[in-house]
Amino acid sequence: MGDALAVATTGAVRIRNDVPPRFRPPAPPRHFVGRDAELARIRPGVTLVHGPAGAGKTALALKWLRERGSGNQLCVDLATGDLGALLRAFGLEPDPQDESAVFRSLVTRRQFTLLLDGADSAEQVTPLLPASGTVLVTSRKKLGIGQAQEIEVEPPADDERLRHLLDLSYVELPERQARLYRLCAWQPGAFGVPVAAAIAGEPECDVEDALDDLVEKSLLTEVGDYAFRFHDLVRAHARTKR
Ligand SMILES: Nc1ncnc2c1ncn2[C@@H]1O[C@H](COP(=O)(O)OP(=O)(O)OP(=O)(O)O)[C@@H](O)[C@H]1O
Ligand SMILES: [Mg+2]
Repeated sequence: MGDALAVATTGAVRIRNDVPPRFRPPAPPRHFVGRDAELARIRPGVTLVHGPAGAGKTALALKWLRERGSGNQLCVDLATGDLGALLRAFGLEPDPQDESAVFRSLVTRRQFTLLLDGADSAEQVTPLLPASGTVLVTSRKKLGIGQAQEIEVEPPADDERLRHLLDLSYVELPERQARLYRLCAWQPGAFGVPVAAAIAGEPECDVEDALDDLVEKSLLTEVGDYAFRFHDLVRAHARTKR
């Protein structure tokens, strides 16, 4: 059989050179944490990343692509994606029965590192795999895909999830609140506004507003009249910040 891409592009068709934006892998989560062991295990060739819903499979794949993958990358959302639409975005319009073959030769020819995200079955994936190159497949199921190496993604433990949520709140804090959060965490037990103001070296009225803001954001607990304390896990988080 000839090169399906060559057949699909005879005549006046021109293949688009850059990757259409909706098929570029998006950035990984800004506050990506952990997964060092899993990231280190992903090698060239086909890798199946499997695990339960929401465990972090897509995030892991996107992190690897961004930091360790080669430059030419293509992302196909298998849950919603339609191969025909992808090929059309490249300027290709093969007959429906030729789509997989044209896709494979496009990937091979352009040496795309491929993310096939959200696969439901091996039958859905196998026809899309190029003969060589690097492919990440994510799935909630442990699909049997030929030579694929398999990486299981376990959902994060509760304390990891909490740390992540705290990080999300922390990075959004205005500077005064962030500084108070870091400094007051070294204060054992409950503390009042005057103590916090002394630690921070700032006027009490500013410090009071900032502490109220931390309470509103669930990073600090108000105990009694104008006394505050950290939950132990939050204090531990705050003490990791510089
Ligand atoms: N290592 C991580 N660090 C920070 N956030 C993460 C991490 N892993 C996942 N998340 C966040 O958790 C949520 C779920 O992750 P993700 O979408 O990767 O799950 P999934 O396993 O692909 O789920 P699904 O099976 O539904 O596709 C997302 O909001 C993602 O940003
Ligand atoms: Mg996913």
